[in-house]
Amino acid sequence: MNEPFGSGSMRLAYLATIEKQSQLLVAKQWKTSQKNALTKCLQQLKCHQLAIKYSDIFNEKLIKFGEKQKLKFLAIKLLVIEKDKREEFYTLEEYIPGEYVKFNNNYKFVNNDYAEYPIFQCFSHFTFLESGCKEMVVDIQGVIATEIGDYHVLTDPAVHSQGTMKQFGMGDLGNLGMKAFNCAHECDELCKKLGYMSLQDLVADDEDEQLIKKTKSISRDEPLCYICFDELNSKQKSVFAPCGHSLHTECLEKMKKLKKFKDYCHLCTQKVELIYIPK
Ligand SMILES: Nc1ncnc2c1ncn2[C@@H]1O[C@H](COP(=O)(O)OP(=O)(O)O)[C@@H](O)[C@H]1O
Ligand SMILES: [Mg+2]
Ligand SMILES: [Zn+2]
Ligand SMILES: [Zn+2]
Ligand SMILES: [Zn+2]
Repeated sequence: MNEPFGSGSMRLAYLATIEKQSQLLVAKQWKTSQKNALTKCLQQLKCHQLAIKYSDIFNEKLIKFGEKQKLKFLAIKLLVIEKDKREEFYTLEEYIPGEYVKFNNNYKFVNNDYAEYPIFQCFSHFTFLESGCKEMVVDIQGVIATEIGDYHVLTDPAVHSQGTMKQFGMGDLGNLGMKAFNCAHECDELCKKLGYMSLQDLVADDEDEQLIKKTKSISRDEPLCYICFDELNSKQKSVFAPCGHSLHTECLEKMKKLKKFKDYCHLCTQKVELIYIPK
């Protein structure tokens, strides 16, 4: 194999081709120990799969709202190379020509340097809502459409997921990561157009250690309040009708005090007809 052309915080990227095919490809290998390389590659495949699923729904939404931009995440494959009777594991994907940019990372970094940046932040926000606050696709990076065609082409996403930490790999920071995004994210025009509201003013940024502990022990099926990330059944909750989504009553009261608050469910952006507080 030739020298790597790219290097991230975790992996080395090598240019590759398949015999008799002209398409330029990228093979990626973990920088550190090759132990668990297969598991890590499979987790990476899972991240891409999920990002593709969400970007398909997001693109449809963009069209509905009259937006011209679209997102495309690369599909990746597992590459196994036999060397001296040992197997080496890589992921394989298309090479994206153009300027490769990181638009956000998995912990609070937001890149505002590009006019197109709101769409990438909006996408992370969208995945959080679309999943019912159980998943969030972050670490959005790739090449902007103006350089290459109709789509912003993206790769190497990370996923935060509720429940056992790290099920989507090293970058999966669970609820801690989702909370960090909500703290750092200020909704732009695009988010507002789609009916999203930033939770920045409501999400406390001060109980990380507690949250790490909790993130490790919480089950994926446990419904959480998307303001405080505590179990919904731990305090009095309010249920929105007709959609049935809920929040802690205490957290909803805080939210109602915000100027930008409207009578709609933040999760599904439906208008709320009734807020019911179970006895
Ligand atoms: N598909 C691709 N096309 C072109 N360049 C790429 C591609 N994937 C990665 N790179 C380059 O390789 C670097 C490392 O790859 P990346 O997947 O970001 O690794 P890491 O997991 O360490 O973040 C990137 O910063 C970028 O410069
Ligand atoms: Mg990267
Ligand atoms: Zn937003
Ligand atoms: Zn709450
Ligand atoms: Zn709802």
